[in-house]
Amino acid sequence: MEITNKQIADYTESFTSEEPEIIKELVKASDDDLEFIDMLSGRQTGMLLKLLVSISGTKRILEVGTFTGYSAIMMADALPDEGKLITCEMNERYRRISEPFLARDPYRLKIKQIMGNALEIIPKLEGTFDLIFLDADKVNYPKYYRLAKEKINPGGLIVVDNVLWGGDVLSQKNRKAEAIHRMNEMIRDDDEVEQLMLPLRDGVTIVKMKE
Ligand SMILES: C[S@@+](CC[C@H](N)C(=O)[O-])C[C@H]1O[C@@H](n2cnc3c(N)ncnc32)[C@H](O)[C@@H]1O
Repeated sequence: MEITNKQIADYTESFTSEEPEIIKELVKASDDDLEFIDMLSGRQTGMLLKLLVSISGTKRILEVGTFTGYSAIMMADALPDEGKLITCEMNERYRRISEPFLARDPYRLKIKQIMGNALEIIPKLEGTFDLIFLDADKVNYPKYYRLAKEKINPGGLIVVDNVLWGGDVLSQKNRKAEAIHRMNEMIRDDDEVEQLMLPLRDGVTIVKMKE
């Protein structure tokens, strides 16, 4: 299902800030190496994340699902010099593509990538975060939401991508759509948060922990 009319999607994207040069290089490197790059969050979700980091004064970010580094770099761009972003990825091929980009200044100083299964990594992380971006492993979205709530600061933001799963959440006709729908219900029924679900690309929910 098309979430947003294609012409409107193209129009809104063309009126959104352009990505920095490094992101254009990263998209090209990803495209040259991989058959599909549709996992990239893209200009509008990337810009939404960057703006959220900047207007919330976020200093510590946790990302679940680096892929080739698009959203990590967009968010790190808005972090202050002392800011930190931890990003989890389990696929070695994607890590090799992101490596030269994450190694550049100032990203090298701000971004730490941890390889492995995020479900095992997150409980072992020290400290808490101002913003957590969930963008991996859709069948486990309910588990990630629970884990994120244990690691988020009061007033912090949990941002979740692909909350509409191409419209499949309406019928929940596959495991991923069923899990995403279950997490959407958990967020809706959670008294500790305020949230906004946006029909942006494949659906993005912004959750704010009450203070
Ligand atoms: C949608 S992509 C992330 C896109 C990225 N945030 C961006 O904007 O370019 C999801 C990524 O999560 C990774 N992934 C899937 N399951 C995972 C898990 N259990 N732990 C860590 N990473 C996982 C996949 O290998 C994939 O690279």
